[in-house]
Amino acid sequence: MKFPVAKKINIQKYEGGLSKIFGIKNPIKLSSNESALGSSPLAVKSFDRAKKKIFKYPDSNSVLLKKEISKKFKINSDQLIIGSGSDEIISFACQAFLKQGDEVVVPEFSFLMYRIYAKINGAKVVYAKEDNFKININNILKCISKKTKIVFIANPNNPTGTYLTTEELKILHKKLPSRVLLLIDDAYWEYVKANDYEPGLQIFKNAKNVLVTRTFSKIYGLASLRLGWGYASKSIISSLLNYKPPFNITAPAEFAGIAALKDAKWISKNIKHNSYWSNKIFKKLNEKKIKCNMPTTNFFLMRFDKKNQADDIFNNFAKSGVILRKMKSYNIKNSLRVTVGNPRECKLFIKLLEKFF
Ligand SMILES: Cc1ncc(COP(=O)(O)O)c(C=O)c1O
Repeated sequence: MKFPVAKKINIQKYEGGLSKIFGIKNPIKLSSNESALGSSPLAVKSFDRAKKKIFKYPDSNSVLLKKEISKKFKINSDQLIIGSGSDEIISFACQAFLKQGDEVVVPEFSFLMYRIYAKINGAKVVYAKEDNFKININNILKCISKKTKIVFIANPNNPTGTYLTTEELKILHKKLPSRVLLLIDDAYWEYVKANDYEPGLQIFKNAKNVLVTRTFSKIYGLASLRLGWGYASKSIISSLLNYKPPFNITAPAEFAGIAALKDAKWISKNIKHNSYWSNKIFKKLNEKKIKCNMPTTNFFLMRFDKKNQADDIFNNFAKSGVILRKMKSYNIKNSLRVTVGNPRECKLFIKLLEKFF
């Protein structure tokens, strides 16, 4: 009897930011763009309460969470789908809309899960060139063919930290054939202060071919609970729901999410913190002539000039107990990404910049 042969998929595995360094006790992890200040305190309280009932299955429709999202963002709750992280929503979209021979378009440097899920579902990934680490909408449009099914845009973009303006996104959407699904990933929207920026949800509330994804992993500080959501037309949501496991969201995650949404104080504290420290870090990076994005979100992509400098800096910071994110899997040469940490972490990061530059 022959064992079933596993399907062959030619994908590069996702490598998350490192969290351990051999020989270093309690290193500082600035490699995954997590919340600088921890978790929303209201969310933690709610999580604690919910843990008493973990012997019960969760609500498979996450009705209460959907109700809270719909109230907060003034959107229809039957146009929502909840995922185990926004990652899972991306996976549902690829499962629902892609088959062998289809194509997707992703910016040259973008969140790796778009290409991974697209490939798992048989699609060819077409990469649109960026301009100086910023998405170029004309290059995206040039990549569209009859086979294109999905265009993925994170705005602001990870790992480059740049963003498309409201105007640019509207033009892209207008010029895109309406048969193509535009996935706008709002993972970092809360951090952006620029006047010419609006999150995808705001711009595309009524669009027929747009799926917006959001996460609780960043500003709300709930990365480990795995909670995210998607918003689109009823028809798109109904297609995605076919792929949703019945109990993909745990009850403690759902209740923590509900409380986090209500924690306005927490959000504004985080935004203030990020704005203060990202400006400070930006100044220091400029002073040291390290090329990087503007302070837009909670991370910087640092680009170096000297040969192998990224590897040297990574090693030197690691030895000093600070973990940065290597950019090799993103194919960005001689670069590192750093997340804005808490005040102690930011001070140490700045001190190490002084030491090594
Ligand atoms: C652009 C972007 N989208 C989505 C995610 C994943 O979010 P989640 O934890 O909700 O799956 C990340 C995480 O780093 C991200 O950078």
